[in-house]
Parts: sequence; structure tokens; C-alpha cells
Amino acid sequence: MKITVINGTEKRGVTYRLKEAFLEPFRGKAEITEFYLPKDCPGFCSGCTTCFRKEPELCKDACYVQPIEKALLEADLFVFTSPAYVFHATGAMKAMLDHFGYRWMPHRPAKEMFGKRAVIITQCLGSGENSTAKDIKDSLSWWGVSYIKKCSYKLMGEIVWDKLPEKKRSSMLKSIAKTARKFALIDYGKPAHAGIMAKCKFYACRILQTKLGKDNPEYTDYKYWKANGWIGKARPWK
Ligand SMILES: Cc1cc2nc3c(=O)[nH]c(=O)nc-3n(C[C@H](O)[C@H](O)[C@H](O)COP(=O)(O)O)c2cc1C
Repeated sequence: MKITVINGTEKRGVTYRLKEAFLEPFRGKAEITEFYLPKDCPGFCSGCTTCFRKEPELCKDACYVQPIEKALLEADLFVFTSPAYVFHATGAMKAMLDHFGYRWMPHRPAKEMFGKRAVIITQCLGSGENSTAKDIKDSLSWWGVSYIKKCSYKLMGEIVWDKLPEKKRSSMLKSIAKTARKFALIDYGKPAHAGIMAKCKFYACRILQTKLGKDNPEYTDYKYWKANGWIGKARPWK
């Protein structure tokens, strides 16, 4: 199986330690590809909308975005991580997610996403771990991913991993190891079940695309939906 990890920070801090603990049961069994932000996707979306209107390959940051997209499309499991920065995902994570706006369901979702599984790991000092996870979940769910597990933690005191009270460290490690064991038992040969929310979003976007296609049959997103057969009877899930 293949795992693609998107680290919202390059720091080898608490987020990194939790992610490493999650990956532990997969080491030696899975092919793991990791991206560290901002290093592996340093450019901000300029708002040129070329990816929406034409081709994502024409994006000024395509050399960074395309390898990430390829790794995501090939992966069976995604791991996204971020510490809370002012109640939200790191700016680097947000900047990377912006590059995939064209993959949101009202535009050109990849059919592969509907069968993927994802884990989101966030943590904070006192508050904001849930809103941080939501920032990431918003994109994943609008890409079409239904099977998303959020693992969010609060430190409530010390923020340096080695200085955390032993009880705190071991309770977080125990909790993430439990989730990791569950994910390691999944049969990744079978795609995840597309949930009701993903299907509702898909059908709402299908109505939108049908209307857009009537107004302009040459519209990029409509042509993509039509080519996939989604305006007809085909669906992106199995
Ligand atoms: C710019 C910045 C903003 C932060 N904002 C929050 C916040 O809104 N809420 C919070 O509880 N902690 C906040 N923190 C603290 C971090 O979430 C916390 O120290 C976390 O453990 C850092 O994770 P790391 O060791 O993986 O870097 C912030 C830290 C930074 C650097």
C-alpha cells in the first residue's frame, strides 16, 4: 500500500512526533511519500485561475503541485498534519491546499478521491486543534474523500516534546497508536465507501454542471464532467 503524508510544518516538533508514532505500524510494509511544507510547495496561489479555466500544468507552481497531486492520486491513505497557528492550519498548509481549489467538487474532482482514506493529525497549546483539523477536512471532503479520521490534541502547558510530562506524552502516543493499529488493519485493496455527504455534494454539483453546460457546452468543468460520464449515469465511486 501507499501512504502520502503532507506535513504542515518542517519543524521536528510535537506534530512530527505524533505523525511518526502514527506511521510506526506501517514502516517496512507501506511505501511512504512525505512532503514538508513550505519547502515542498513554497509558492502562493496568485489567483490567475489558469488551473480552473485551462490546465493545472500551466500553474507557475506546477513543478511543486504536480508531484504532490501525483502522490495523492496514487496513495491509499493520506496523512495530513498541522499544529494550530492562530486557531487554524499553518499558512503553508493553506497555501498548498489553495493550489487544489480546482479539484473541489464544483469544479473537476478526481474520481480516485472518492475511494480514499485520510487521517488528520493536529495539536495546539490550549485551543484551536479542532478548527485546524476542520481547515484540512474542508478541502479533503470537497475533493470527494469520505473516510476521514481526525486526531486532535491539546498540550495545556509545555510545548517542547522532550519536556512534556511523561503522562501527557504517553497518553497522546497511546491514543495515536490505537488509531494507527485500526488503520493498519484496513484492507486497502478495497476502496473506502463513499458517504452520504460526498454523494449529496456530488449531486448538487451535477445539477450546477448540467446548467452550466446548457449555457456554454465548451465550459472547462462541464466538459470534464461530461467526459467522465457524470452528467449521464456514471459515478466516481464504486
Ligand atoms: C504562529 C503561532 C500561532 C499559534 N497559535 C496557536 C493557537 O491559536 N492556539 C494554540 O493553542 N496554540 C497556538 N500556537 C502554539 C502551537 O500550536 C503549539 O506550540 C504546538 O505544539 C506547536 O507544534 P509543533 O511542535 O509541531 O511546532 C501557536 C504557535 C505559533 C508559532
